[in-house]
Amino acid sequence: RSPRYRLEVLPPDAWAGHVADRLVERLTARPTLRICLPTGDTPTPLYDALVGRGAPFGGAEVLLLDEYLGLSEDDPARAGERLRRELIDRLADPPAAYHPIDLAGPPDQAAGRHDVLAAAGLDLTLVGIGRNGHVGFNEPGSDADSETRVVALAAESRQVAEAYGASEGPRSGITLGLRRLLESAEIWLLATGRSKAEILARALEGPETPQVPASFLRRHHRLTVLADEAAATRLTGRPSS
Ligand code: F6R
Repeated sequence: RSPRYRLEVLPPDAWAGHVADRLVERLTARPTLRICLPTGDTPTPLYDALVGRGAPFGGAEVLLLDEYLGLSEDDPARAGERLRRELIDRLADPPAAYHPIDLAGPPDQAAGRHDVLAAAGLDLTLVGIGRNGHVGFNEPGSDADSETRVVALAAESRQVAEAYGASEGPRSGITLGLRRLLESAEIWLLATGRSKAEILARALEGPETPQVPASFLRRHHRLTVLADEAAATRLTGRPSS
């Protein structure tokens, strides 16, 4: 059957500018956009491009997708700080509200508070894809109805955290659950680089399975996949199910 999602494939050097232009369009059309944003290496050039374009975030609300537990407050890998550093603090027109995951108190309660913020409604959710198929920290084994929760990180995610500069490999995190992500009015799946080619093909064209949590994004009726040519090399355009 033909894919239900929309796929846009861009040359690597045009990817960030293209996604930024689309996001500026959304913000212009709906200044009060409630948007969920990821961190990681994929969106970094996108955030640069948004800053360069003077993206009009002023009426918008930004919620963070996920956060590590067990890192000190000033750890450079902390997602809340990373998004602040790469985007929020650099915007001439910063969002009316920025909601990193507030880690005060017991982690379960922190997850619960963040879930309430997301449950109020997300217009647009941007996610990356892990090389193990995770979205947010919905690691392999996560079902489509998984809740916002405290999660044990997969070994691969711990290594990536260290590559992001974490002083010690965090073992757990808080993530918006797939259920909440699938409630967002619109989802953009971002993938760049050759290292994502195999997993992107499994997520889009393999079976929908908890082993590849990103595969569940195909259930959404407004999913746009924004890939660069390197990440799209393994796509055939034929989903299996
Ligand atoms: C980040 C996140 C993760 C990353 C994924 C890809 O907030 O939730 O799912 O999107 O691990 O990471 P990068 O972009 O560094 O390849």
